[in-house]
Amino acid sequence: MKTIMEPSNSKLCTVALIISVLVVASSAGSFYDDMDITFGGERAKILNGGQDLSLSLDQYSGSGFQSKHEYLFGRFDMQLKLVPGNSAGTVTTFYLSSQGAGHDEIDFEFLGNSTGNPYTIHTNVYSQGKGEKEQQFHLWFDPTAAFHTYTIVWNSQRIIFLIDNIPVRVFNNNAASGVPFPKTQPMRVYASLWNADDWATQGGRVKTDWTKAPFTASYRKFNANANRVGPNSVSTSSENDNKAWSTQGLDAAGRNRIRWVQNKHMVYNYCNDRQRFPNGLPAECMRSKFL
Ligand SMILES: *[C@@H]1O[C@H](CO)[C@@H](O)[C@H](O)[C@H]1NC(C)=O
Repeated sequence: MKTIMEPSNSKLCTVALIISVLVVASSAGSFYDDMDITFGGERAKILNGGQDLSLSLDQYSGSGFQSKHEYLFGRFDMQLKLVPGNSAGTVTTFYLSSQGAGHDEIDFEFLGNSTGNPYTIHTNVYSQGKGEKEQQFHLWFDPTAAFHTYTIVWNSQRIIFLIDNIPVRVFNNNAASGVPFPKTQPMRVYASLWNADDWATQGGRVKTDWTKAPFTASYRKFNANANRVGPNSVSTSSENDNKAWSTQGLDAAGRNRIRWVQNKHMVYNYCNDRQRFPNGLPAECMRSKFL
C-alpha cells in the first residue's frame, strides 16, 4: 500500500505546485502573460518568473516589448528604474500607440543625461497622426536609484500623466473646440530602450558613451485596468471592477499638486513656445492652464 501511495502522492504534489505557481503568476500580473518582446532579442529579458523585465542597449541594438492586447481607454501603470550613471544619448520609453496612418499615441519618454545631470521626462500626445504637444519635466527624485510608478490615465474626457500618483500633465478632450482627441483607435502598450544621441541629450551635443554599454533599464508591476478590445477578449482586463479611471479628473488636491509640478519642475511647454507657433498657439493652449 505504502509503496503504491508514495509515487502517486509526489505526482499530486507536483501538479498542485504547478497549479499554485500559475495562479500566483497571473494574479500578480506577469510579463509573460501581458507582453511580447518585439526587438533586441536577448537584450530584453523577462526575469523572476515574469515579475521583472529588463531592457538593454549596446552599439548594435536597443530592445523593446509591446502588450499582447489592445485597449480602448484605461489606466496603465508601470514601475521603472532608469539607466544609471552616464545615460547620455539613451531614451527609455513607456507609451501607448495605435497603428497605421493617422495614429494616436500617448508618450512617456525618459531622456538620459551625463552623470550628475538630470533626466528629462518628455511627454507628448498624438491625435490622428499629429503630435507637437510636448511638455518636459525634471524630476524631484533620482529615477535611477529606485523604482517609481509612471501612469497614463486615458478616458473619453482627458489624458492624465502621473508620476508616483502625482499628476504632472492633463490633456483635455477639447473636441468641441476642434482639437482632435484619441478616442476611437485601440492602442497597445509599448516600451523600449534605444539610442537617440542625435537629439536626446542637451540637444544632441552629448553623445552615448559606448564604453559604458550595455545600458540597462528595468520594468516591473505593469497593470492595465482597462477596456481590452480585439479577438477573444473580455470587455475589461481587470480582475476587479474598479473603473474609477473612466471618469478620473483632478480634484482640489490634484490641482494643487499639478500646479506645483508645472511651476517647479516643468522645463518645456509647447503652449509657451510662441516662436514655434508664430501664427498663434494651438487651440487647446488657450484653455485654462491646468484643466
Ligand atoms: C541634461 O542636463 C542639462 C544640464 O543640467 C539640462 O539642461 C538638460 O535638460 C538635461 N536633460 C537632457 C535630456 O538633456
